Amino acid sequence: MSTKITIAIDGYSACGKSTLAKALAKALDYSFIDSGAMYRGAALFFYRQGHVSEEMMDIEAIERAIPNLDLSFKIQNTKNCLYLNNENIENEIRQVYVVNIVSKVATIKKVRTALVKQQQRMGENGGIVMDGRDIGSVVFPNAQLKIFVTASPEIRAQRRFTELRQKGIPQSLEEVQLNLTKRDHIDSTREESPLVQVQDAIVLDNSKLTKEEQLEWALEKARKIISSMH
Ligand code: DC
Repeated sequence: MSTKITIAIDGYSACGKSTLAKALAKALDYSFIDSGAMYRGAALFFYRQGHVSEEMMDIEAIERAIPNLDLSFKIQNTKNCLYLNNENIENEIRQVYVVNIVSKVATIKKVRTALVKQQQRMGENGGIVMDGRDIGSVVFPNAQLKIFVTASPEIRAQRRFTELRQKGIPQSLEEVQLNLTKRDHIDSTREESPLVQVQDAIVLDNSKLTKEEQLEWALEKARKIISSMH
């Protein structure tokens, strides 16, 4: 049996991290966890409780509510879906009102601590591909393969715009661009585990690569590491 490694994929919003992580996990028969979905799920939960909106955020109330936050992934029709208690929230967490508050919620230290703990538990046996902002730096600092994905801001905005359109979520290209710029800023300047490119990460600029080319690139890196471990 081949050794199962841990793969961390980090990068800015909308640069195709989840698409690559999902494809890589499938090719290697590993599990895939979209950690951004968990921050979105947490944001949705606190929003519904009235603790956060675009205009306000009650950090103390959020911190008190953390023990009641119950997020889990379940397979639904071969798709890995995020559940909040018993509700499938996979579509709801992609809505604009969640997108607009999630970076704020992700700055709260106690929220991060709770989610990181759960993420580490999910990956304790290896054989996992997880994507996010702090996977190589905080969640799995010992991951055998760390990839930092980048793409030009214009290409990222265009990709996210097309994706939202396909999902029937109305937002103009300008609104998408503005949201991405805002999120990039919050994610990379926050005090608590900001988005950083760790020293041992390999950079993948996918501005001009197809999904297939990216997968091929990542698979080659992963297979090399796996075979060196025998
Ligand atoms: O990857 P995404 O767009 O679904 O992430 C949603 C938000 O969650 C994003 O603004 C940054 C935050 N996030 C984070 O702080 N740490 C992670 N590991 C993943 C996401």
